[in-house]
Amino acid sequence: MCGIIGYTGDGYAPEILIQGLKKLEYRGYDSAGIAVSRAGETVICKKRGKVEELEKKVQSVDFSDSHCGIGHTRWATHGEPSDVNSHPHSGGRRVTIVHNGIIENYLELKEELASKGLYPVSQTDTEIGAMLIESMYDGDPLSAIYGAISKMRGSFALGIIFSDRPGTIYAVRRDSPLIIGVGEGENFIASDIPAILPYTKSYYLADEDEAAVITKDSVRFFAKDGQELKKELLTATWDEQSAQKGGYKHFMLKEIYEQPAVISATVGAYKNGTELFESCSFDFDIKGKIYIVACGSAMHAALLGKFAIEKLARIPVSVEIASEFRYDNPILGSDDVVIAISQSGETADTLAAVRLAKSAGVRTLGIVNVWGSTLSREADDVIYTYAGPEICVATTKAYLCQAAVLEMIALKLAGSKLSEEEYTKQVSSLDKLPEYIEKALESDSICRALAQKNLEAEHQFYIGRGQDYCVCTEASLKLKEISYVHSESYAAGELKHGTISLVVDGTPVIAVMTERARIAKTVSNIKEVASRGAAVICVTYDDVDVSDFCKDKIIIEAPSELLAPIIANVPLQLYAYHIADGRGNDVDKPRNLAKSVTVE
Ligand code: AGP
Repeated sequence: MCGIIGYTGDGYAPEILIQGLKKLEYRGYDSAGIAVSRAGETVICKKRGKVEELEKKVQSVDFSDSHCGIGHTRWATHGEPSDVNSHPHSGGRRVTIVHNGIIENYLELKEELASKGLYPVSQTDTEIGAMLIESMYDGDPLSAIYGAISKMRGSFALGIIFSDRPGTIYAVRRDSPLIIGVGEGENFIASDIPAILPYTKSYYLADEDEAAVITKDSVRFFAKDGQELKKELLTATWDEQSAQKGGYKHFMLKEIYEQPAVISATVGAYKNGTELFESCSFDFDIKGKIYIVACGSAMHAALLGKFAIEKLARIPVSVEIASEFRYDNPILGSDDVVIAISQSGETADTLAAVRLAKSAGVRTLGIVNVWGSTLSREADDVIYTYAGPEICVATTKAYLCQAAVLEMIALKLAGSKLSEEEYTKQVSSLDKLPEYIEKALESDSICRALAQKNLEAEHQFYIGRGQDYCVCTEASLKLKEISYVHSESYAAGELKHGTISLVVDGTPVIAVMTERARIAKTVSNIKEVASRGAAVICVTYDDVDVSDFCKDKIIIEAPSELLAPIIANVPLQLYAYHIADGRGNDVDKPRNLAKSVTVE
């Protein structure tokens, strides 16, 4: 996934583009570049590395009188991170583009261009796109753009400038996000809202294969048949402040500490007394099976949802890794439901899974954090999480909100299967969730101390049973993705079937125990690893005595056993954060990662 930005107005384009790219760096940071139209020519400046590297290089280029341009920060897919593979890419003469997505048939198009004696200088699919538009450009930009994208397969959000059209930006999208920001005497394109917030909260969303023509005074939309389109002007609900660090060292820590508030907002959006989701259009009367499709942390939230729904509502749930599901030819019945979970609402595999479900005539529900995202517009029904902008690449608050929504869905589906007293008790415990998360945040100093103790460990294990195993899957990923430490999550009872051979003296093993019925069994597994020298950390209730086999205990309190996994995640987020910070990593932008993977 990459970030694109564009600006046209009276301001100094290079500075505005670079500041915008900094707000999009969470989408990828292998390389960055800008292209501006100046005095009838297009000047490109780009290089490998983060935006701050580009910022230094831009100082040495004469960009005087530059008021219109495009910019890009890259997460490499085709072609390794390098100066030549950086965007923007030129089509060879008058066309310059930036691109988020993948042109899947770029090799076929490359051969077609080669047959005309046209050869790229980079290894990227994007340059082929630029060359294709160039090869079709005869003075009519929209005709060239639509001619080119009619030959492209795959996903793209393109920002395009023509050297003979100074001051005008063209944009078109398919499957990749694209917003058009509307300012006072200036307009923008961007991959995501934070990039335009310093200037405006007003924006348009481009739909599939719609092209936008943007000058400093106008924004016009066209369909592929040339018909001009009227679009609804939207207002971002986020403000710039909420997208900044707010005094925390990293966005991740800020977002961990925002969890009480965003959980309160998310629960509050769908709970009215003991009524849940009463204003939600989704029909909770499910006669078939539930499939939950997602990727990464969203899939880990799905595991927790499966556990809760099957336990309370006794409806069969299958959690499907979206990149598998989309090619599995799944056996879907007309009474089945597919729930897709995605913070960004732009994850290519999850979107493909939803499209597959819809093509099979199955109802789809999206659980999404980003309003107006592709998933929010393509799923039949949507339940939003209210986590707000999540800038850190590693998710915390959005994942926790997904988990809370799934627990609420489980209660909603359980309905009359629970006694009125039990149902009321469970639903009421949702009100206390924020305060218990606040309490869990108080374990920060203990988590930091334990992180310091295990800072040098290169292998860690997380074990738990049932709902606690679900917690371990996310806790393990959190540690891996920001600290680069190898870790594995294991169903506690499974460890002895092989992996326990990896446990040696001093190996950190984090054991999560919140489901009381299984604690005794997990204790047996903890003793198995402790007897082999593991350094055990237990995450459990105060009244669970672990003193004869575990020195380090993180105590949690929960409003109910059902919601305890949500609480248990909090200290484990902090533990992972402090290990990553202690190891000197760029916690908010871990290597090789991107916030939303909009490519396969
Ligand atoms: C980031 O911490 C996650 N680890 C990552 O796996 C993410 O959950 C996954 O890429 C899905 O993203 P989405 O929720 O935007 O679809």
